[in-house]
Amino acid sequence: MDNNQKLTAQDLLHQTGGLSVSDTLEHLVGVFEGASAFSTSFSYEDQAITHLIASQQLNVSIFTLDTGRLFPETYSVWSSTLQRYNLPITAYYPNEQLLQDWVLANGPNAFYESTDLRKGCCNIRKVEPLKRALHGKRLWITGLRAEHSPNRESLPIIEWDEANQLFKYHPILHWSTDETKAFIAEHNIPYNPLHDKGFVSIGCAPCTRAIKPGEDFRAGRWWWEDASKKECGLHEHAENK
Ligand code: ADX
Ligand code: SF4
Repeated sequence: MDNNQKLTAQDLLHQTGGLSVSDTLEHLVGVFEGASAFSTSFSYEDQAITHLIASQQLNVSIFTLDTGRLFPETYSVWSSTLQRYNLPITAYYPNEQLLQDWVLANGPNAFYESTDLRKGCCNIRKVEPLKRALHGKRLWITGLRAEHSPNRESLPIIEWDEANQLFKYHPILHWSTDETKAFIAEHNIPYNPLHDKGFVSIGCAPCTRAIKPGEDFRAGRWWWEDASKKECGLHEHAENK
């Protein structure tokens, strides 16, 4: 693994140039053997990637950040995913003391009151657990898609994540919504039924709503905030540079 220290994202992009998504996944998981993790929120995108990992039997730790405020539908698709693929999915939970203190000081729904409070809630429920989930990993696979926000359009599919000191790979960054949906349908992959009700990007229930045709994809997340502030800190490095 020592050689990996000297690797750059450019090297990895070079090694995988021209490969299919499946072959790129297999290659990278081989390079970072035993140290690859995939974060799933059980969105369309993440379900497609879970399917690829499962069907290729790749050695990837799959985890989810259970904020405690997810939609009931998200827990249902989580269950159907376990049944379908018989893969372990590790859930990471907020630190109990941090959450207890935050709720005591601010109340359960204080995220509507200010961006600072909202980011505080996201830090406790998502970002701190993410750090634990990524501990010791060298490769973080995500379901980011370029169409989801202007910040994501300029991302490379493989990048160095300075904040977490690992490489990130976004296998379906350039898939369109139609391609993603077609892949889900073709392989009969379980998906969150909220996607059929106008929900595009699905996060916590109090902070996610359906969007209307023509609305921006991110319009359904933290809709009461300025568009420029709408990140929860999970992908801080990649998107807020
Ligand atoms: S967010 O930054 O706005 O919350 P988004 O919902 O677009 O992220 O999802 C982008 C990617 O971040 C997902 O494909 C997944 O890899 C990861 N992600 C987002 N939310 C979670 C979660 N609750 N658990 C695990 N991974 C997540
Ligand atoms: Fe808290 Fe909303 Fe962030 Fe979820 S999305 S962690 S409920 S502020």
